[in-house]
Amino acid sequence: MTFLNEINNALPPNHPWGQNIIHLTTVDSTNTYAKKLAQQGAPEGTVVIADHQTGGRGRMGRSFSSPPSMGLYFSLITRPHCTPDQLMHLTCSVGVAASISVEQVSGLKSGIKWTNDLVLGKKKLGGILTELSIDPATKLVDYAVIGIGINCRQGEADFPEEIRTIATSLAMAGANVSRGALAAALIEELYRINQEIFSEKERIMDLFRSRCVTIGQDISVLRGDHVFHGKALSVDNDGALLVRSTDGRLVSVASGEVSIRGMYGYL
Ligand code: BTN
Repeated sequence: MTFLNEINNALPPNHPWGQNIIHLTTVDSTNTYAKKLAQQGAPEGTVVIADHQTGGRGRMGRSFSSPPSMGLYFSLITRPHCTPDQLMHLTCSVGVAASISVEQVSGLKSGIKWTNDLVLGKKKLGGILTELSIDPATKLVDYAVIGIGINCRQGEADFPEEIRTIATSLAMAGANVSRGALAAALIEELYRINQEIFSEKERIMDLFRSRCVTIGQDISVLRGDHVFHGKALSVDNDGALLVRSTDGRLVSVASGEVSIRGMYGYL
């Protein structure tokens, strides 16, 4: 069975987002590829999946390890009609959809490290990179590319040495999951969340808060070369992390160019 057949067999018949799925053997980055398609007018619901990425990208200019046939490397184009500040909760919403999809196909309950990492135990299972394009004339969002990478079949030795102690995969957690079934679950969940992204914002963010492993942790917040420490108290409905700093201030941290670390490790 081809990979596309596997996805379509797992999707309900005539699913609106089952029509424009592009499967590539190798690409630099599915997000970069999807952005080019979106610029050429590709419709909402276009999905790009690759078996291998040679330049998988993460937040803050980091790379995302994407060895052949080991992970799901997935990008989706959406075209929400709104301003960018109405989509502050987009990455969190995608995290909820990804965590639910993983649970559906593997039975494993993954957490979300604010703002964009999927975690199992204390290790990183995957990541999310959402990229928006704004129409300069209208200041509205032209398209969003939602990129999701999930480690499926890697063993420890398949990860680059520098992330070996912090990375995990579904296989390492004992789940043998088909990437096609996981892709289909993601398409269904993302479709559902996309339909409810404005009307059900509070409920989606409640789901985020219930899966967010950062809340309650002592953390370090890194912004450029500036660092402060504190306790993560909650996440608001726009996806900002509320932190009580060690000097007593209540700080709202928007994801932007911020990276967080637990005081004692990755989580
Ligand atoms: C992160 O860890 O900071 C986010 C990682 C996002 C990786 C996915 S894999 C599919 C899509 N294409 C990319 O180049 N990045 C995303």
